[in-house]
Amino acid sequence: MSKGSRIASEMSSVDPNHVVFFDTTLRDGEQSPGCSMTTQEKLTMAHALEELGVDIIEAGFAMASEGDFAAISTITQAIRKPRIASLARAKTEDIEMAARAVQFADRSRIHVFLASSDLHLEWKLKISRSEALDRTAESVRLARSLVDDVEFSPEDATRSDRGYLVEMVRVAIEAGATTINMPDTVGYMTPEEYGQMFREVRERVPAIDAEGVVLSSHCHDDLGLAAANSLAAISAGARQVECTINGIGERAGNAALEEIAAALYVRADCYGGATCSIKLDQLYPTSQVLGQIITFKPSPNKAIVGANAFAHESGIHQHGMLANPLCYEIMTPALVGVSHTHLVLGKHSGRAALRHRLEQLGYTLSREELQQTYYRFVAMADRKKSIYDQDLIGILPDQIRERRNEPVSELD
Ligand code: KIV
Ligand code: ZN
Repeated sequence: MSKGSRIASEMSSVDPNHVVFFDTTLRDGEQSPGCSMTTQEKLTMAHALEELGVDIIEAGFAMASEGDFAAISTITQAIRKPRIASLARAKTEDIEMAARAVQFADRSRIHVFLASSDLHLEWKLKISRSEALDRTAESVRLARSLVDDVEFSPEDATRSDRGYLVEMVRVAIEAGATTINMPDTVGYMTPEEYGQMFREVRERVPAIDAEGVVLSSHCHDDLGLAAANSLAAISAGARQVECTINGIGERAGNAALEEIAAALYVRADCYGGATCSIKLDQLYPTSQVLGQIITFKPSPNKAIVGANAFAHESGIHQHGMLANPLCYEIMTPALVGVSHTHLVLGKHSGRAALRHRLEQLGYTLSREELQQTYYRFVAMADRKKSIYDQDLIGILPDQIRERRNEPVSELD
């Protein structure tokens, strides 16, 4: 077995269906406005990621700053289970710096990237296609002389000439790359196209399967397709996904880890037995840790971890939820570490939800009492955006307020 295939099979835990979760919250995620983190904050986040069960943590870009170097180095000394990676441009000084940053890790990776699209080669790097191929070979070879596990990313792969992309992938594998990542750097592709790109490259580069090279997705969310594209790549044989907590990252962000992991579980029927080591009930707690470190929380309607992901306001939905949660929830909140469903009272709520909430607060109302209280409630809800428990208690007639029981069940 070649060195490359040994690492590849170790990464997939011998299970060919295992999808490696490569978390880049601390690198691509951090590279976005409002998300920069101190070494201590990165370390806190790295502990949360380890607890979550990610396979690889991309801890930073060693050459970017002294702070990034220090954070990577600190993380390699504190985190034991996940492999620790540093990003590096295809340059000697970057690669040597990355190798120094990860030297204390039990298991390390250098992630080398170089653009493959003509747009980037001509306007950004100002080098020819053949120069880029030479740099790919030299840099991957150098990285492999320093660590066992080297990932190569042809940046802007999705807008690259397909024949040239195939050539660059071949060169990187010949030089010793053990993982080939094909980034949708600007979030341009549709799921059908992205899946097709993986199938085609795999078919045209036999060394991928022969050498056990892991194919990886890396998607940005400019068209809101990052998670869908990552899943399409998995269907097409990718066995690593690069993603971030809460989907933070450049511009519209990266593929959200929690969305991919939950989809693999909830729709296991669609993904041919793909497995992963993410502990789903750590998704929400990990999202919360990140929200406390950076300057913003996920938007309320964010899938899985947003404040409204398990909240229901409309009367029809609340009635259905009280009858059977499966009516309007495809997973339990507990599955992803959220403590409970939240029935939010507002102007769209019905009597069933009002009764339920009042009972939770310790007030049992007769039919007529409920009817009267409901009229008052709707009038109030038309005026107020948020209804609090104190508001509800405030609209109850005195005789009901005085007969309060102990709350009957856990409060929302
Ligand atoms: O989006 C991208 O292309 C990247 C590479 C460095 C992998 O983040
Ligand atoms: Zn990226």
